[in-house]
Amino acid sequence: MSVPCVAVERERGESVRERLADADVLDGDHEIAVDGDTIYIPVVDPEAVPADLDASIVERDAAERDRPLTPAEILGYEPSLERLGDIVILDEDDDGRAREIADAVMASDVPCETVLNRASPIEGELRVRRWDVLAGTDTETVHREYGHEFLLDVAEVYFSPRLATERHRVIEQVDAGESVVDMFAGVGPYAVPMAARGADVVACDLNERAVEYLRENAARNGVADRVTAVAGDVRDLVGGGGGDAVDYADAVDDADAADRLVMNLPHSADEFLDTAVALAGEECVLHYYDIQHEDDPFGPGTRAIRAAAGDEYAVDVETERVVKSYAPHEYNVCLDVRLTRA
Ligand SMILES: C[S@@+](CC[C@H](N)C(=O)[O-])C[C@H]1O[C@@H](n2cnc3c(N)ncnc32)[C@H](O)[C@@H]1O
Repeated sequence: MSVPCVAVERERGESVRERLADADVLDGDHEIAVDGDTIYIPVVDPEAVPADLDASIVERDAAERDRPLTPAEILGYEPSLERLGDIVILDEDDDGRAREIADAVMASDVPCETVLNRASPIEGELRVRRWDVLAGTDTETVHREYGHEFLLDVAEVYFSPRLATERHRVIEQVDAGESVVDMFAGVGPYAVPMAARGADVVACDLNERAVEYLRENAARNGVADRVTAVAGDVRDLVGGGGGDAVDYADAVDDADAADRLVMNLPHSADEFLDTAVALAGEECVLHYYDIQHEDDPFGPGTRAIRAAAGDEYAVDVETERVVKSYAPHEYNVCLDVRLTRA
């Protein structure tokens, strides 16, 4: 049967396949084929193939795949689950149903070592969640996102695979040579790919375990020389916090002059806007994450940024983006804002 396929040189096959998987366009019902130096990867929607892949799309005969056994086939219903490396994550209130799904996942062909169910909301300053371990034991895994790999332990650090597309949107704006400060960096899903694009990144997090993973992830992805990981309160980067001040000049070459700031701490980023303004250079793009009511999702963030910038910076809101629904009538949003010194 003839199906649309992305055709690329063999040596790029795996990286292109990963990008197509991240973009959710892989056609799992048909076999990938190799012919000479070209690999043909079946896709479900040619229009949704990322334009920057630099690959042609052709119609081609492809053999049907023997379908792997899915949890849905075992259960008779489609369970809601999320994959993080070789961990499967459930969000079930009913313990019996969670157990039933975990058993089906382990009996299926899903490559999985551990099944976890959410046991608490994301909590505390470090934004970590508690888990019920339903199968396996290991909460540490390697997760792949847009060609980069991240080692992390979900029991010790924050990480959400659902934000992959949003992170990629922001990361793609980065140019080589920029100075970036990722103020709430976690295990590095912004910092590492930004450094891979040639930016010099200072990445800060209060969670010491997250910073250990961040250093490891910078090394794994070959960008350790462009990532300076700092464990502590980001306010101390400018000496404004209560702890030992970290000399910002030690952390970035171009002292107190960030070209880009990432503020991914949606519930309380407004409390850190004075720090952001102190870190900004002559011209600086701020990616400000927030959680707000649907009636005015961008207003509170915009007003808070203008208040913090005062007369020091002109504030130009370049993008207002709803990232995802957070709760009934509440959105997780991002403002991309350009600060230009007045
Ligand atoms: C929502 S998570 C985002 C992590 C990462 N950007 C990501 O996308 O996975 C927020 C992070 O901010 C860190 N954090 C909270 N308060 C902080 C502070 N005052 N200074 C630095 N990091 C902080 C937490 O430990 C947590 O890892």
